Order: sequence, then structure tokens, then C-alpha cells
Amino acid sequence: MLDLPPGPKQPRYAQALQWVMRPQEFVVRQRERFGDVFTLEFIDGQPLVVLSDPEDVRTVFTGSAEVMHAGEANKLLAPILGSRSILLLDEAEHLRHRRLLLPPFHGERMLRYEQIMAEATRRELATWQEGETIEMLPRMQAITLEVIMRAVFGIEDGLGKERLRVLLRTMLQQTTNMRQMALSLILGPDSERLQQRLDEVLSPVDEELYRVIAEHRCAPDLEEREDILSMLLLARDEDGQPLSDEELRDELMTLLLAGHETTASSLSWAFEQLTQKPQTLERLTEELRGGDDEAYVDAVIQETMRLRPVLPIVIRVLKEPITVGQGRFRLPAGTRVAPAIILVHLRDDIYPEPFEFRPERFIETPPGTYTWIPFGGGMRRCVGSAFALFEMRAVLRAVLTTFDIEAAGGPERITRRSLTIVPDHGGRVRVVRRAEVAGAGAADQGALAL
Ligand code: HEM
Repeated sequence: MLDLPPGPKQPRYAQALQWVMRPQEFVVRQRERFGDVFTLEFIDGQPLVVLSDPEDVRTVFTGSAEVMHAGEANKLLAPILGSRSILLLDEAEHLRHRRLLLPPFHGERMLRYEQIMAEATRRELATWQEGETIEMLPRMQAITLEVIMRAVFGIEDGLGKERLRVLLRTMLQQTTNMRQMALSLILGPDSERLQQRLDEVLSPVDEELYRVIAEHRCAPDLEEREDILSMLLLARDEDGQPLSDEELRDELMTLLLAGHETTASSLSWAFEQLTQKPQTLERLTEELRGGDDEAYVDAVIQETMRLRPVLPIVIRVLKEPITVGQGRFRLPAGTRVAPAIILVHLRDDIYPEPFEFRPERFIETPPGTYTWIPFGGGMRRCVGSAFALFEMRAVLRAVLTTFDIEAAGGPERITRRSLTIVPDHGGRVRVVRRAEVAGAGAADQGALAL
């Protein structure tokens, strides 16, 4: 039995560059050459074992928290998120944070955010003109930022909110770009120089976040408030302890970073894919404007996230050896393994004609636990998955009941925007005209029937 599976022999910088520039083509090519398990090497020189057989994905997602360290694998994000972010923690501390964070994100609770999501979309749609071509990504980012500020941070309209929006936008632009990611990789997460650079953008944001936390703490109506921060302030762990202000700051930053760009990128892909397939767009539009096939709306979202998973891989550092590749490789402790969402989703034995955008496939067969994994899995599965799915449904419904849209050009290529993969022109769409059917403008009345 071998320790590490084979992989490309190119220099690590060449591998990293291809992974950044053409992530899908690069890994698809390696799978064609080496099979379902192969080893890559990126800038830091550490091997990364890529897994794309659902059996290996199951091994990783069902492995114990003591063996599969995700926090350690995410440590590049520590300078921004802080050391007490759920994404950076492992084992007992991770479990403590996860238990406190999960209840506010429970599926049924999401209905309470319907109004906020509808309003945020309506404000955005009010700026759209018939006949104009729109780049969806920044528009979707504006919506998801507004939703997080209100539903997660609990910020009401006012001058304070505008100040925070500007600070968050600046911070997001300066921290989640390719230059910053490359610097983190080259300098390492413990670099003082890196931290100094980041502190300049993070300090004013932190100041605001601590102010928001303090204001919530002394709000007389804290128990009645619906936002996630209020619930986190009231949550207690098994020893009856609340999250400290520093832990709350790190989790707010995590929810912003994990929830804003991901949902906006997925939505941009949904519009890009739909406008390239006019018949699918037409059927979805009909369902949203009066049909009653909610299953089709969900299938469109599932298919978008299958074909364009915005986070293409997740990573774990092994603390004990595991066996993968149908018993062929015994990976030693210390190895980094990466269930490759993007490759699992392109398997033709699970998804015939895998490169085709065909939502009907999910009506015929519902998504499988280890074969549809855009939100990762196991003890690290995305905390905000119900929130994201609810928001995607809300935005699709609001847009397509208000406007007729069409493609503004050919299909867009996959490119990387720091953490997520996005359409290389941001998902360009032409706004044809205002919808003229009964039920149109539902978003204008804030009446999303989800
Ligand atoms: C389309 C949108 C989204 C996608 C595709 C997505 C995807 C993911 C993925 C792949 C992971 C890692 C799972 C793993 O390692 O196995 C993750 C983790 C996480 N996500 Fe999301 N996410 C989305 C939206 C959100 C939203 C809206 C929030 C919250 C507002 C959120 C909060 C989190 C948190 C807190 C974690 C860390 C979980 C842990 O380490 O235990 N995500 N997400």
C-alpha cells in the first residue's frame, strides 16, 4: 500500500497558478490522468490529497473530530477571522461554538428573515432599468450584505448602518482579493507584516462590531429580538457560559465572510446558467409567477450548486492515518486531504452528461449526502445552508417576478475571486422589460410566498 497517491510533477507555483486561474479544468485534467485520488502541491509546498470518490468523501465526513481537523486547515483565515472563529477551531472548542451557533440557523427560523430578504432585493431592483445590461455579482453582493447586516448583525436603518456598510465593503474588498490571498500564502498566517497591514482595515470594523455587540447587550428588548446576534448573546453552553465579546466578534466576522460572497456568487451563477438555457429560465419563471411547483425552484438551485459549487474543495488535516482509494493508499497523519466538491459533482456515473445544466435531474433523483456536497459535510457542514437556500429562493423569486431577463452574451468561464469561484464577467444579464403577468411585482409588495 502506498502513502501518497501520484500527481502532476509540475513545479508547485505552476500548479498553484492553474488552480487559481482555471480551477475546474485543472482538477478535471488531473483526474483523467491519475484517477479519483491524486496529490497536488501548492505554494506552501505541502501535499494536498484530492478525493473525488463518494466512498472517500464519506470516510472524511464521517471521521471523528479528533482525526479530521478542519480548523487547522483553515488557519490562513485566522488574521481576518480571529482565533475564536468556528472555522478555525477543532474538537471540543469547535463543538462548543457549533452548538451555540446552530440553533439560530435552524431551517424553520428562516421564515422570519423573509421580509428582510424581500426588502433588500426590492431596494436593489428599484435601481434596474429596462434594456440595461447588469453584472449580477456586485448586485447580488449588495443584497447579501444588506441581509447579513440586518438578519445576522441586527442593524436597523440609519446613519450607523450606512457607516458600517461602507466600512464592511472596504474591508471585504481589501481582504478577500487575490493579492491578499497570495500574500497570506507567501508570508504565512503568523506574519507580523501581514497582521499590521490587515489591522489598518480591520481596526475600524472591529470598533464598530464591538459597539454593535455592546448596544445589543443592553437592549431592553433583547429577548424579543429576531436577529442572530441577539440569540447568540442569550445562548449558553453546557457549563452555562455565554460567548465572550471577543468570541462574538470573531463569529460575526465569520458569518459575514462565510455567508456574503458565497451566496452572492451562487446567485450570480444561477442567473448566468439560467439565461444560457432559455427554456429552463422560462419554466422557472412560470413556476414563480403562479405555478405551484416549488420542487422545480429547488431543483434549479441544486443544479446550480452542483455544476458551479462556489467553494470547490474543503480541507482537513489528518491527525491519524486513514485509507482511501479503495484500500490502495494509507495516508499518514499530518496529510491534508481535500474532498473535491467540484469533481464529485462532475462524475458521469452519478450525473449523466455532467457538464449539462439540467435541473430535472434533481426531480428524478434527490441529492445524495455524499454526492451533492456544496455545503461540505459531517461535523463541519455549513451552518448557514438553510439561510443560503432560503435567500437564493427569495432573490430568484423577487427578480423573476419583477423583470423578464435574457443572456447578455455567451456562457461565462469559471474564474476565482479569492475564496469563491465566479463567472468571469460577473454573470452579465440583460433586463428586457418589467413583468406584465398577474403576480408580477410581488417583490415590490414584499410579499414573497416562499
Ligand atoms: C451558497 C452559500 C454557501 C455555500 C456554498 C457555503 C458553503 C460552505 C462550505 C463548503 C463550508 C465548509 C464545510 C466543510 O468544511 O465541510 C461552509 C462552512 C460554514 N458556513 Fe457556509 N456556505 C454558504 C453560505 C453560508 C451562510 C449564509 C452562512 C451564515 C450566515 C454560512 C456559515 C458557515 C459557517 C459558520 C461555516 C463553518 C462550519 C464549521 O466549521 O463547523 N455559510 N460553508
